[in-house]
Amino acid sequence: MCGIIGFTGKSEAQNILLNGLASLEYRGYDSAGISYFKDTGKISIRKTVGKVKDLRAICDDENNSTCGIGHTRWATHGGVTNSNAHPHKVGNVSLIHNGIIENYHELAENYDLKETLISETDTEVAAALFNKLYDGNPEETIQNVVKLFNGSFAFCIMFKDHPGIIYAIRNVSPMVAAYCEEGSFIASDLTAFINYSKRYFIVPEYHIITMTTEGIILKDLEGNTVEPEYLEVNWDVAAAQKDGYPHFMIKEIHEQPEAITRTLSPRIKDSLPDFTEDSIPDEFFKNCSDITIVACGTAMYAGMVGKTLIQSMLQIPVTVSIASEFRYEEPVIHENSMVIVVSQSGETIDTLEALRLANQYTKKTLAIVNVKGSSIARESNYVLYTHAGPEIAVASTKAYTVQVASFYLLACKLGLVLNKIEEAYAKDFIQTLQKTPKNIAAVIEQADTVERLTKRMINAQNAFFIGRGLDYTLSMEGALKLKEISYIHAEAYAAGELKHGTIALISEGIPVIAVATQKHVYSKVISNIREVKARGAYVILLSKDKELTDSSICDVHITLPDTPDAFTVFNSVVIFQLIAYYASIGKGLNPDQPRNLAKSVTVE
Ligand code: G6P
Repeated sequence: MCGIIGFTGKSEAQNILLNGLASLEYRGYDSAGISYFKDTGKISIRKTVGKVKDLRAICDDENNSTCGIGHTRWATHGGVTNSNAHPHKVGNVSLIHNGIIENYHELAENYDLKETLISETDTEVAAALFNKLYDGNPEETIQNVVKLFNGSFAFCIMFKDHPGIIYAIRNVSPMVAAYCEEGSFIASDLTAFINYSKRYFIVPEYHIITMTTEGIILKDLEGNTVEPEYLEVNWDVAAAQKDGYPHFMIKEIHEQPEAITRTLSPRIKDSLPDFTEDSIPDEFFKNCSDITIVACGTAMYAGMVGKTLIQSMLQIPVTVSIASEFRYEEPVIHENSMVIVVSQSGETIDTLEALRLANQYTKKTLAIVNVKGSSIARESNYVLYTHAGPEIAVASTKAYTVQVASFYLLACKLGLVLNKIEEAYAKDFIQTLQKTPKNIAAVIEQADTVERLTKRMINAQNAFFIGRGLDYTLSMEGALKLKEISYIHAEAYAAGELKHGTIALISEGIPVIAVATQKHVYSKVISNIREVKARGAYVILLSKDKELTDSSICDVHITLPDTPDAFTVFNSVVIFQLIAYYASIGKGLNPDQPRNLAKSVTVE
C-alpha cells in the first residue's frame, strides 16, 4: 500500500527516487510525486495523477538536488487527484506517508488545521500538524506529534530549515533503510534501492531516523541512540527486474521450479523433512491437537490446499480463517492448537494483527513468510521462510507455490512427529515432492497452448472453476487469479455443489475450467462436467489422462504430468496462472498492475 523512498547523499536524487518508485510501483500506482531541496534551501514538489512514467515526464531535467523523497500512491482517503497525491507540503514541512491516520478529523478540528488544507487526505493533516507544532527541533517535534496519531504510518519528512536531511518514523507500516557509499536510503522495501545496497535494516517502530550524507542515526522516542541491526539479502538486482520477459508475472511463473527447489532443498535431509536450519524443534509439533491457518488472498488459498492435505493425510482438524475476520472473532484456540500464518510480504496488516491475537492463546505460532525480517516473521514464535525471491507482480504466483510446498513439508514433519505416518511413507512423499520443479517446468512448456485456448475466453463476463477435493481448494486460487488480472468474474465451486444453485448461471459459451485429477472422485467430477457441457459451457478440462477416450465432455483438454494425486495441485495451478495471464494480456491489460489492487496491503 503506497511506496515510499527517501535519499540523501552525493549523487543527484531525482533519478534515484524515480527509479526507486518504479520498483515500488506494485505497492500502488494511481499517482506519484517527489519533493526535494533546491540550492536555495527551498523545497520543490512535482506530483501527478498516473504512473511513475507520468511523473518522470513532468520532472525537471536540470534538477541537481541530492536530497529528496518520493511516493507512489494507492488511494485510501480522498480520490485520485493531483492535490491528494503525495508529497504534501504545509509551511516548513514536506512529507510522504504510507498508512492511515485514523483520528485525522479530530486532529484537524482540535488543532485548528482546516483552513490550511487543500486536499482530502489524512496525510496533509499530519503535515499540517507537524508544521503547527514545529519548534525548530525536528526530532522533538516528531516525538511529540507521533504520540497524537492513532493508526499506522511510515513517514519521511523534510523540514525546510534543515536542508539535506530526511527524518523518518513508522508504526506498523513497513520501512527499511541503509547507509552505503552512495548515501542514505530509506524505502518501503529493499527493491527500491537494491541497486545500491544489499545490506539494510528494518526501521524499528516508533524510532526516529535522521538521514544525512554522512550516515543514519536511529533514536528511540526517549532520545537514546540505537544501533541498527543490518540484514543482508542473497538475491541481486536482476531478481527484481524483468530480465527480458514482457511482464513480471510471466517471469515469476517461469521462476517457480527454481523457487520451489530453493525452498525445499535446505529442509530435506535423507529424504525426510528437517527444520534444523529454521530452528524449529520437533517439540513444536508435539501435542498438536488442531491447526488454524490464517492469511489473506492468495496466501489464504495456499492455506486451503494445506488444510485439505493435512486433514486427509493426518486426520488432524484444520480450519482456514480469513485474517480480517479472525482478528475480530473469539478464536477457538488453546495451548495445543497450532496457528500457521501465511504471508508473502510478511506485512499484511490483518494477518499481522491476527498473529498478535493468536500469540495470546498459544505458543505454537508459525509463520510461512517470504520477506526476511518482516513484521510477521519477527512476531511469530517460529518462521519458515519461503525462498521465492522478490515477487513484484501484484498477482501472486511463485509465492503461492512455495507456500503450498511448505505445507507439504510441514504435513510430512507433523505426521512423523505425531506418529501418524511411517518413515518409508514420508520418504516416498518427500521424493515425490522433490520432482515438483521438473513437473512444473514441463507444464510451463504448454504456455502456447494455453495462450491459444484463452482467446476464446477473453470476451466472457463470467467463468467457473470446478473440481473436488484438492482440485476444488486449488480452484479458488484459479478463480482469484483470473478475477484480479483479467476482470472476468470467476468463481470456484465444488463440482458436486453446482446443481444446488450455480448451474443456473451456466449458459452457452460460458467458460468452465474443470479439474479432474483425484482418482477417488474422478467419475463424479466427470459427471458434473457433463452436466455443464450439456448446458452449453465451453469446458477446459485439466486431467492426467494421456488419451481422453471421450472427447465430448470438453472443448479443450490439457494433459497434466502423471504425478500422484496429492501432488497434482502444483501442475494445475500453473495452468490457472497462465490462463489468467493470457486472458489479461489478451484484453490489452497490464497483468502486473491490475486496477484498484496493490501487492502489500498494510491498511485494514
Ligand atoms: C494482496 C495481494 C495478494 C496477496 C494478499 C496477501 O491482496 O494482491 O497477491 O495474496 O495481499 O498478501 P501477503 O503478502 O500477506 O501474502
